[in-house]
Amino acid sequence: MTEPVKMATYLKTQSELDTLRFITCGSVDDGKSTLIGRVLYEAQSLFDDQVESLKSDSKKHGTQGADIDFALLVDGLSAEREQGITIDVAYRFFTTDRRRFIVADTPGHQQYTRNMATGASTASLAIILVDARQGVLEQTRRHSHICHLMGIRQIILAVNKMDLMDYQPEVFEDIVTDYMAFAKPLAFADVTAIPVSALKGDHINSRSKAMPWYKGPTLISKLETVPNRIENEASGFAMPVQLVNRPDSNFRGYSGIILRQPVSTGEAVRISPSGVSSSVKNIWLAGTKLDKASPGLSVTLELTDEVDISRGEVIASRDHPVEVGDQFEVDLVWMSDIEGIAGRSYLMKLGGQVVSTSILSIKYKRDINTGNNLAARKLELNDIARVTINCQKPVCFEAYEAAPELGALIIIDPVTNQTIAAGMIRFALRRASNIHRQHLDIDKSARRTLNGHNSKVFWFTGLSGSGKSTIANAFAAYLHAQGIRTYLLDGDNIRHGLNKDLGFSDEDRVENIRRIGEVARLMVDAGLVVLTAFISPFRSERDMARELFDDGEFVEIFVDTPLEVCEKRDAKGLYKKARAGEIPNFTGIGSPYEPPLSPDITLDHEWDMDDMVKKLSRLL
Ligand code: ADX
Repeated sequence: MTEPVKMATYLKTQSELDTLRFITCGSVDDGKSTLIGRVLYEAQSLFDDQVESLKSDSKKHGTQGADIDFALLVDGLSAEREQGITIDVAYRFFTTDRRRFIVADTPGHQQYTRNMATGASTASLAIILVDARQGVLEQTRRHSHICHLMGIRQIILAVNKMDLMDYQPEVFEDIVTDYMAFAKPLAFADVTAIPVSALKGDHINSRSKAMPWYKGPTLISKLETVPNRIENEASGFAMPVQLVNRPDSNFRGYSGIILRQPVSTGEAVRISPSGVSSSVKNIWLAGTKLDKASPGLSVTLELTDEVDISRGEVIASRDHPVEVGDQFEVDLVWMSDIEGIAGRSYLMKLGGQVVSTSILSIKYKRDINTGNNLAARKLELNDIARVTINCQKPVCFEAYEAAPELGALIIIDPVTNQTIAAGMIRFALRRASNIHRQHLDIDKSARRTLNGHNSKVFWFTGLSGSGKSTIANAFAAYLHAQGIRTYLLDGDNIRHGLNKDLGFSDEDRVENIRRIGEVARLMVDAGLVVLTAFISPFRSERDMARELFDDGEFVEIFVDTPLEVCEKRDAKGLYKKARAGEIPNFTGIGSPYEPPLSPDITLDHEWDMDDMVKKLSRLL
């Protein structure tokens, strides 16, 4: 997501010409490629040789009704682009007498939502393409919602293929009425509907003789005259630090890309989140000293004071320090097949900062057809949802509406490193800042001293019937006999009390383990040796539990009993029920179990109990 944003920002500073960035939304079937190709052609941005080769290619493809198949142009460029590695959005550039344009063209396929969100994040306007034969479709509504979410407030509704509907005004009017009714609650600042034929060139750059009934602007004249996204002039200079540059002991610089507003030497700055103040001594650009540098440039700043700044912190005007927070209300576009679940740990990337994050709650997801808000327990591919999130440590941010550079975030799955969601910060939740930790005189080490032993957690994981409870029970008895204070948290027991509100869906299992992790942490803090016996089927939650503890306090024990053996034992008769289809999400049958990759110890089901207890006691 960062590459295109950088590039667009950079280009803007290269010229004093007003540049409009826009995005086109629609599928190949709607004629999107043809439309883009036609716009480029009418704006005369194509080189002659490109036009010539298109003409000959178009003949080969037997395109009817036009000399040139404009789709070929765009598809040709996409093919080139697809040889690259991860560019999801193709940017095209063209100029008319009045303006420069950057079009974000987002390829379709399954990852469409993700690409669109990327392209929309820098755009001032969206062209939403509708096929006159089809009218407003689900994807039209989805695209509109994503555009709205990404801060686009100006829409051109291009009703394409009017030629195939005999240029009838009623067809156009019906579609416009339909769309306006849908879009009303989104409250766009401007929706202009234009009847076009990308193939024939109607209302692209010149008025169409076939549609004398249409009195509005042509597509290009509309693009030339809409206002640009309003820059937030009230904000000050800001630059997230990407690199601390210390070639030798005499020089210490902070490198990054200027997000907004120019910076000058002598400018008073504040560093967030640390809150330290200083001022700018020198500005370096590729070895040259500058007095002033504009947004989009990659510079190195030297400050007048020896301050300690690390990567991800933000240097900003002292009068406009950026905000700092650790809990936010966010709108998310879910872009992955990996489901999003409250309580699970992810990575969040925001303006160069990377922190561990989890979804606190899913407030609702948006039904893009009706605009209604639906209750949701998890997030799936293409979902658009409002959630609250919690970050492990404070980050610099601003509301997306005010400053997209510090308000747009992405969520990354730490296991696969895939980007799984894009989000926009609405605001910070203040509740976190009003709750302060209370200092307590008697602490963990005091309690350990009194007990005369260390405290830690022995986390047993394995299938139902693997023997977790039995082994943990024997181990607890052994420890107790040694005068060690223990507590055994057992799945079946806890699910009768603390966790009786939870079932066995993925979301509930995540919450089950989150709570047990927290309870175990309190007990370790209380000085106990804690044993937990839960299936805890997912790696990410076991890792999350581990993160709650200091090094060496969390011992992961894999009770490695194969499914066949557990099923044969079937002490509670649950496997039989599961096989009969009576328990649809039973672990190992209808629901996965992810074995630990590097447990602290693996127990073989064929070992005898005393042996296992002895092995465990060595880990104390
Ligand atoms: S966990 O997956 O959330 O960690 P937990 O250890 O608390 O599970 O509970 C597992 C116990 O609940 C099993 O030993 C079994 O007795 C019972 N149980 C009931 N339904 C299921 C199910 N669908 N999957 C697994 N265990 C189940």
